[in-house]
Amino acid sequence: MDREAVAGRVRAAYARLTDGDRAATRLVHDPATYVGGVPYAALARLRDGHGVVPVAEPELPGWPEGTGYWLVLRHADVDRVLKDPATFSSSLGGTQMRDPRTAEDLAYVRRMMLNMDPPEHSRLRRLLAKSFTPKAIGALEGQVRGHVDGIVDRMLDGGSQGAALGASHGACDFAKDVSADLPLLTLADVMGVPPPDRWLMFDWANRVIGWQDPDYRVSASFDPAGATELGRAAYTLRPQPGPDGLMPDPRSRAGMPDLYAYAHALGTLRREQPGEDVMSILMAQRDDVGGQGGEAGGGGAVSVAEFENLFWLFAVAGNETTRNGMPGGLVGLLGDPGAQQALRAGPEGIPNAVEEMLRWWTPVMTFRRTATREVQLSGVTLQRGDKVVVSFASANRDPELFADPDVFDIERANARRHLAFGAGPHVCLGAWLARSMMTTMFTQLLGRTSWLEPAGEPVWLQSNFQRGVKRLPITWRA
Ligand code: HEM
Repeated sequence: MDREAVAGRVRAAYARLTDGDRAATRLVHDPATYVGGVPYAALARLRDGHGVVPVAEPELPGWPEGTGYWLVLRHADVDRVLKDPATFSSSLGGTQMRDPRTAEDLAYVRRMMLNMDPPEHSRLRRLLAKSFTPKAIGALEGQVRGHVDGIVDRMLDGGSQGAALGASHGACDFAKDVSADLPLLTLADVMGVPPPDRWLMFDWANRVIGWQDPDYRVSASFDPAGATELGRAAYTLRPQPGPDGLMPDPRSRAGMPDLYAYAHALGTLRREQPGEDVMSILMAQRDDVGGQGGEAGGGGAVSVAEFENLFWLFAVAGNETTRNGMPGGLVGLLGDPGAQQALRAGPEGIPNAVEEMLRWWTPVMTFRRTATREVQLSGVTLQRGDKVVVSFASANRDPELFADPDVFDIERANARRHLAFGAGPHVCLGAWLARSMMTTMFTQLLGRTSWLEPAGEPVWLQSNFQRGVKRLPITWRA
């Protein structure tokens, strides 16, 4: 790929933008913007005026200078890009806006299903989809209900999860005390991770997703005291921040030695002693296409090396996303007392409210593809090698599809047409589980309290990738 040519095309088109449009692209790109909220006015200006817009990538703290990219803002275009992997590749340059630093780092991320194209992608996707058997799904749904019961019990009891302020009311940080644990417990069920080790996944996801955020990139919430031997052994390999305060790049294999050690040990264990979890079912499967060999992985089976990469993907993709989706949805509800009242009176409206939460909040704001050929999109000609970034945050507020898109409306008839889970061959594999976690959480939360109120300023994550909630103080009444 000719990096200079790619950068040159973005530079030339960027120079032709008006000053106002250039300022809007700078705001949308800069991770620091998001500490103050998503720049929806800038996104709307660019979406309405251009649809597809060139964005420069100057050097920013923790972000090296890049080639620049083409930001795709309209719902119809985002949907088209995601459904045409032959033209918009996940593999050529990976799926993240920030380019892998070296050729080895690119080769490393391409071993993950997320960063593969069909047909290589299809094999793993098919094997995984088959591993979520009806029995496994039924078991997970029961486990989610049990976890939510326990988490809401702890919230209402005060103690380490918030504080009871009296018999009938209390306060907590919904993001940290309530929301964080549910995806961890659930992913531990999916992957057969012993529950005491689950906070390792919290730190791993923070390090990867929160790379742009000063607190999250060095996250260390895991207490080895209560962990298993597997967890303690992995913990000894945890990298330390360098003199610049930064951890090694988490999107390189060398950046996550603790995660890989844990995944390797767990994959080997589950191959020998399968449990009831989805990953054990996956490890026991064979297909007729043939695996990639290595450590008992031949003959169509998933190898331990493939398992390690899937472990990385699940621990990161399923964790922070859901952890941010729940408080994000609650922000919508706290801002609309009428909606809170309506859902208390009619909980059958909760599933549609969850779709609206996903549309309105949009926990994952962007993903990246690379053009494989010349193609037209909203009147812009893209060339082979161009970096193409789709904005879910913008697509989910496109007035072409969603009337009054900035309004949080739990009765919106087409809320489910949001693209929060993506579309096409890579559409989120855990969407049903995320929906189940969110629906169960809001059903319990509203069913076991009589009112919820905001109780102070929320704190947002510094990231142009995930719309993250670091703190959401609330009070509740029983
Ligand atoms: C609200 C929560 C979630 C959101 C917003 C979300 C969002 C997304 C998006 C946008 C993609 C598409 C990536 C692309 O097109 O390149 C994706 C893929 C994926 N998600 Fe999720 N996700 C969530 C929860 C989960 C959960 C709970 C799991 C695991 C149980 C999970 C596992 C995955 C996996 C494995 C992929 C890759 C699929 C593939 O490459 O074929 N996600 N997710």
